[in-house]
Order: sequence, then C-alpha cells, then structure tokens
Amino acid sequence: MSRQMLAIRHLEKTDIEFLVANAASLKADVLAGKPIDAKRAHTVGLLFFENSTRTRVSFEQACNYLGYRFVNFSGSGSSLSKGESLKDTILTLKHERLEAVVMRHKSSGAAQLAAGYFDGPIINAGDGQHEHPTQALGDALTIQERLGKLSGLKIAIVGDVLHSRVARSNSWLLSKLGNEVRFVGPRSLIPSFTSKLPGDVYYNLREGLLGADVVMCLRLQRERMDDGRLSSISEFSRLYQVNRSTIKSAAPHAIVMHPGPLNRGVELDDATADGPQSAISDQVQNGIFVRMAVLKWIFEPTAAASEVKA
Ligand code: NCD
Repeated sequence: MSRQMLAIRHLEKTDIEFLVANAASLKADVLAGKPIDAKRAHTVGLLFFENSTRTRVSFEQACNYLGYRFVNFSGSGSSLSKGESLKDTILTLKHERLEAVVMRHKSSGAAQLAAGYFDGPIINAGDGQHEHPTQALGDALTIQERLGKLSGLKIAIVGDVLHSRVARSNSWLLSKLGNEVRFVGPRSLIPSFTSKLPGDVYYNLREGLLGADVVMCLRLQRERMDDGRLSSISEFSRLYQVNRSTIKSAAPHAIVMHPGPLNRGVELDDATADGPQSAISDQVQNGIFVRMAVLKWIFEPTAAASEVKA
C-alpha cells in the first residue's frame, strides 16, 4: 500500500512533526545551495480541475528541486471537457505511467475517490470545502519559524470558515499539536456543524482575536457562495477585517497569515497585509519546501526521522 496525502484529519501527529521538520531541513539545504538527495527521478502528474497559482507553482518547484519530472494537466484542456468522468480520467493517467497524482478538484471527497481508482499515491491539493493538507503543513512551518514553537498557541481563524478547506486542514493540524483553535466570523459563514471541527466559535472579531498568537485570515470564497449568504462585502469588512486597528486585540507579537489569493481591502487592509506582522510571503515560500517533504515522504517511506537534522 502506497502512502497517501488526502487529509490532515487522518495523519498521525508524528507524521505531521516529521514532515514539518523535514521541510525545514530541506529549506536549509536549498537556501544553502546544497544538492538535494532524491533517490530517483519520479514522474508526478499535476492535475488541477480548479484554478491555482501558489499550489501549482510550488509543486512544480518542489519537483524541480528534487529532480523529479512532472506532467501538467488541467480540467479545461482535457477530455473532461468532452464529458469523460473523473474515474476514467484517473484510470487513463494510471496507464500513462504517472507514479503519483497531485489533484485539485471542486468536490469534497474527490481525492479519496481518485485514490480508490489510481492504485498509487494521490496528494490532495484541495478538494472542495474538505481539506488542503499541504497548505496546512506549510502554514505550520511558517508558524514554527516565526514564533519558535508549534504548540500552546492561540490561533484565530477568521472569515469564511464555511467554504474553506484551508480552515479545516489547519484546525485539525493545529489542534492535534496542542494549540487552541478559534473560528471567528459571521454566523452565515461558520459551518453549522462546528461541533465536529476542533475549535471554539466567536462571532465577534475583537473577542476572537483577544490575545491570539496567530491570526489566520481566509479568502471570501464568492465562487462557492449561494446568493444571500453575505449581505454585502462592505459589511463583512466593517465587522471582520483584520486591520491596523483590530489587530491590536491580538498579542503584540502576533503574526498575520492568509493562504491567498487575497482580496485586498476586504479580509485585510494594506498596512496589515504588507506590514512586519504579515507572514504571507513566508507562507508562499514554505509551500515549496513542505511539498518537497511530502513528495519524499510518499516516495521514500523509509527516509525516516533519522534524516531530519536536529
Ligand atoms: C486556497 C485554496 O485554493 O484552497 N488557496 C491556496 O491554495 N493557497 C485558499 C483560497 O482559494 O481561498
């Protein structure tokens, strides 16, 4: 049975810790210009049925640094636009001799479904509103670097929690590692089943931010929203924007995160998005190293904790 990267929810804490530590070690090697020791040049398919900038480019860069080959494949330029099913697409890619598939899809559960047909590793690059595990692993590396630890922190996840796979993967990861997770947003954008998610709910921004070490903002996902869920964008920003005034409720050392793409002036003001507390560019860069760590973890399962430098 090959390893899969489908969801943080089903990952062991030890695997999460290993992946974050190994990403840090790979980052140090890449930044020092050291060659990366990959055992073999594997061939990976990058299958994006939804748009992506950061996730797709960082998987490509991860493959480049590891000396892997990748094949790009997007929903619109493929036979899917002729009506081919996801099952038949995955079975076709299997016979095209791809060794792993990185997949983004609009339906929650699509990665799990693909894993059933592919008979090899699937890496979930975001499935609907379900999970985005490599984003959460990269965010964990960013928190570790910026705050020096990855447990005992107060994390406020702010905004459109309902539609966010980033919120779900991060809440599972950060709660498994012993942090306090808070979901902050309007009633209409907080899932009604939060009892199944690991975190407390706050409808008031300043209360939710109080003493937070990490303020993780989420994009308003208008493409997934039914009409009427949000009365207006300006009302959302008036009540939930993290800006130079509202950030004062968080701890003075707090970092501000956003997975991108950012709606400037909606989730964050310019001063906060571009200021010293912002960790957004670290999140982008760490996306590369954590994806290298995930690919190595999949293809070299015996490359265990001993490879991680102290
Ligand atoms: C996120 C995604 O696609 O889930 N972006 C990303 O991967 N960096 C968040 C979003 O689209 O809002």
